[in-house]
Amino acid sequence: MYPDRVVSGMRPTGSMHLGHYHGALKNWIRMQSEQPCLFFVADWHALTTHYDDPSIIEKSTWDMLVDWLAAGIDPTQATLFIQSKIPEHAELHLLLSMATPLGWLERVPTYKDQIDNLANKDLQTYGFLGYPLLQAADVLIYRASEVPVGDDQVPHVEMMREIARRFNHLYGKEKGFEEKAQDAVKKLGSKRARLYHELRTAYQQEGDDAALEQAKAMLDDAQNLSMIDRERLFGYLEGARKLILVEPQARLTEASRLPGLDGRKMSKSYGNAIALREDKESVTRKVRTMPTDPARVRRTDAGEPERCPVWQFHVVYSDGPTQEWVQKGCRSAGIGCIECKQPVIDAIVKEQEPMHERAQPYLDDPSLVRAIVADGNEAARRLAQETMRDVREAMGMSYG
Ligand code: TRP
Ligand code: SF4
Repeated sequence: MYPDRVVSGMRPTGSMHLGHYHGALKNWIRMQSEQPCLFFVADWHALTTHYDDPSIIEKSTWDMLVDWLAAGIDPTQATLFIQSKIPEHAELHLLLSMATPLGWLERVPTYKDQIDNLANKDLQTYGFLGYPLLQAADVLIYRASEVPVGDDQVPHVEMMREIARRFNHLYGKEKGFEEKAQDAVKKLGSKRARLYHELRTAYQQEGDDAALEQAKAMLDDAQNLSMIDRERLFGYLEGARKLILVEPQARLTEASRLPGLDGRKMSKSYGNAIALREDKESVTRKVRTMPTDPARVRRTDAGEPERCPVWQFHVVYSDGPTQEWVQKGCRSAGIGCIECKQPVIDAIVKEQEPMHERAQPYLDDPSLVRAIVADGNEAARRLAQETMRDVREAMGMSYG
């Protein structure tokens, strides 16, 4: 009923690194040519954890947009926008909040995890609890069919589905639907009306799919029905209501995961990251000083790639023969670690060259980025407004 559409966002909380590229951006880049995509900067979400120091958000937003463009996000294919420029997200968030049980928010796994992980921050706030609900509004407002996310975000998408279902259940009823449906049943004639009721009960109370099919076939055959009555009777069979919000699917990022230089998760705060647009000298220095298998104290000591973070980089960056060269050379002490690291350095530098090139015009003239985002904001806002019209009407808040 609604077109396929992909929606995803990222929080502007610092510069982007290769972990983001291999974990999420590559996926976005693949999707942008396959389906209509909306990618946005989740600046309000950044505020949930940075409310005490929002100063980095604006700069991070522009830097992140340049990073996206540098990585290959194509603004002629995908719509790029900034969350807070579409105030309808906030309106939908508020309206959804009225009927969202607190327990749904409290039991989202990231909620307690993040409070524990960021123990130095006070996250006992209303805004932080509502994080996944705002995320639901971000996606539902575009009636997205798919949300590319990492596995930590899957419970958030699950919750969006529940929110959409609950919304449709509460507000998807057409005014007087029940009475209109009952009237339509009468038009079937008494024999068929009785059968209709029996089949409907069998389906709704016992989940009897055959009964549903039989009832549908009967409606198909009933010639004296108007189109609209037929539609109502189809809807009434399933107890179905109008679908105002669409349940989206999580599309898991399948891209290989790149750990940080020390083997932990790549994160700027751990100091183990390579930026998306790092200069060549710095890439070389960082990889050269990466820790390796601690068992290789001397050049003549054999090593084990599985215990070495450099190997994880080869998994992402090297072809089969190079990987074999590493495995053999490491275990036999046939190669040294500096030698082993060189193909990784070369591959990262090669990967980043076109990114530097693509970024340059935007660095020279930042108004180009602003223009792209202005267009994206406008396009996104039109879609959001369309959904909000339906949402307000369904909730009886359109005052028309
Ligand atoms: N929570 C996401 C993250 O931390 C960012 C985000 C906000 C998002 N709104 C979204 C992702 C909507 C997908 C869809 O990465
Ligand atoms: Fe790591 Fe390569 Fe050194 Fe082996 S040879 S320990 S894989 S850097």
